[in-house]
Amino acid sequence: MDFWKYYDVTHKEHLVCNPMSIEKLNELITLLALKSGSKVLEIATGKGEFLIRLVEKYNVSAIGVDISPYHLGDAKRKAKERVPNADLTLIEMDGANYKPDTPESFDLTCCLGASWIYNGHEDTLKYLMSQTKRNGLVVVGEPFWISKPPKEYFDLSEIKYEMFSKHAGNVQIGENLGLKLLYTFVSTHDEWDRYLGLQWYAIDKYAQVYPEDPDLPEFLAKLNKEKKLYLKWEREALGWAIYVFRKTLERLDC
Ligand SMILES: C[S@@+](CC[C@H](N)C(=O)[O-])C[C@H]1O[C@@H](n2cnc3c(N)ncnc32)[C@H](O)[C@@H]1O
Repeated sequence: MDFWKYYDVTHKEHLVCNPMSIEKLNELITLLALKSGSKVLEIATGKGEFLIRLVEKYNVSAIGVDISPYHLGDAKRKAKERVPNADLTLIEMDGANYKPDTPESFDLTCCLGASWIYNGHEDTLKYLMSQTKRNGLVVVGEPFWISKPPKEYFDLSEIKYEMFSKHAGNVQIGENLGLKLLYTFVSTHDEWDRYLGLQWYAIDKYAQVYPEDPDLPEFLAKLNKEKKLYLKWEREALGWAIYVFRKTLERLDC
């Protein structure tokens, strides 16, 4: 399957590709209170909405990295329209291989909803910390278990219980690394329903326009399976939050 095409088709209607409302995104941006010229790195920037809003509000110098040519194409188009003169660089590559010339050089580093790039929450935080200045901010979006679904769920899902922690566990992992938690935005059912529902809506719209697309049956089968897993188990069992941390340590071995 062309996974990036699937992701593009199912996320056509999304402004941000995670279960956070635009109101909360704006709240997060206000809370970050960045100085003009601050350096920002976002891994898995998706369609770039968060980064572009940061540039619009604070005139930051920003780098966004994403592996998907579809999403990065959207991000570049938006950036050209909305912030044509900004110091914004969008790089299409695997975030796992992104190594800036100077470590610990960013005022804010982020990765919202793509911790698999670094094999999980802890190593994502370690990577972001290694790129963040002392006293800089580290922001991640990460799922967490509210409760453990039954074996039947894990037999059907690609998700393993070990992949995620609890909400408090996500915080503890950061604190064990020397990060100080400043704030969390925990998504509500409404935000999750919108995030998933927009995918069902988008694929239906695509199917009406491109019924002959040979990829469509496989895309529909995958999304229908995900829809069932969500409605039967994940809606009650899986949470998602944005964690805002400050890096307080001078230097880390990571
Ligand atoms: C759940 S979306 C989140 C996008 C964006 N952070 C947001 O919240 O709107 C995951 C993103 O990770 C990107 N991605 C997946 N694997 C990646 C990798 N190895 N390197 C960089 N980006 C990756 C996808 O293209 C997608 O844009």
